[in-house]
Amino acid sequence: MTALDPKQGGTFVDGTLGGGGHSALIIDRIMPGGRFIGIDQDMDAIQNARKRFSDHGESVTLVHDNFANIAAILKDLGVSGVDGILVDIGLSQHQLEGSGRGFSFMRDEPLDMRMDARGDTTAEDLVNTLPEKELADIIFKYGEERFSRGIARAIVKKRQASPITTTAELADIIRYAMPAKAVAKQKIHPATRSFQAIRIAVNRELDRLERFMDDFLGLLNPGGRLCVLSFHSLEDRIVKQKMKELATGCTCPKQFPICTCGNEPKVKLLTRKAVRPADDEVAENPMARSTRLRACEKL
Ligand SMILES: C[S@@+](CC[C@H](N)C(=O)[O-])C[C@H]1O[C@@H](n2cnc3c(N)ncnc32)[C@H](O)[C@@H]1O
Repeated sequence: MTALDPKQGGTFVDGTLGGGGHSALIIDRIMPGGRFIGIDQDMDAIQNARKRFSDHGESVTLVHDNFANIAAILKDLGVSGVDGILVDIGLSQHQLEGSGRGFSFMRDEPLDMRMDARGDTTAEDLVNTLPEKELADIIFKYGEERFSRGIARAIVKKRQASPITTTAELADIIRYAMPAKAVAKQKIHPATRSFQAIRIAVNRELDRLERFMDDFLGLLNPGGRLCVLSFHSLEDRIVKQKMKELATGCTCPKQFPICTCGNEPKVKLLTRKAVRPADDEVAENPMARSTRLRACEKL
């Protein structure tokens, strides 16, 4: 909230409603007189927010969509500029623990992993149809899993016998595809990285974040702020690079002695380095352990 700085009467967007924790804090600060737009691609989050924020009438608008479409969403609502946007990317506690959509290897659920039930590809589709190399590349790139090749090979071998349809089945295949010594040494469940990778691919999370980062600046009022909470180094890199590019302005090659492009900085960085949660916050909320916050202000 310090970085986002919601003020009474302001117009703010929460692009990732989730359980509505951040939204409640924003609404509390901008009302009366403010306008709040909450977006989530998961209908469960929208339904929860409808109940939670029903007292605010027209001042609160809830939109079931992807935040990658934020420019079109605001245009449709006739909102020409906002004072702040927050996105807190990743999975909500509800999705992980209560959605029944196969986000967690700790439960035996159908292999779905779509945050938006209207999405055209499920995790089951990906693990049963992708060529082995593509599967391995996804697990390596999005999961940073060094045993990706062996895992992909084991998945393909298993699916040739019968399709893989549940999280428990997939978690088992992954576990037995990894060297037992490596499994014993790991602090996290052996399927953690592969599950994360498949989820990122199913929801095309990085593409959507890139689209959002390309559009946010045009939607902020001068002095308006963007705060992004990310959980994955690839997400953080996208956010960091875009904010840095906008804060630098000049796009001349480094070897140019003076600037000839004349591009001015468009944002001020509010966080030089990504802000990490303090130990007591992680103790209270272990899911926050890998969160990184970056924020900037439109000049
Ligand atoms: C970590 S939770 C947000 C938690 C929330 N800040 C709170 O305080 O309860 C992430 C939420 O963002 C949603 N989400 C993730 N990526 C999204 C995207 N590209 N567009 C819209 N919603 C997204 C998920 O469906 C999920 O509900």
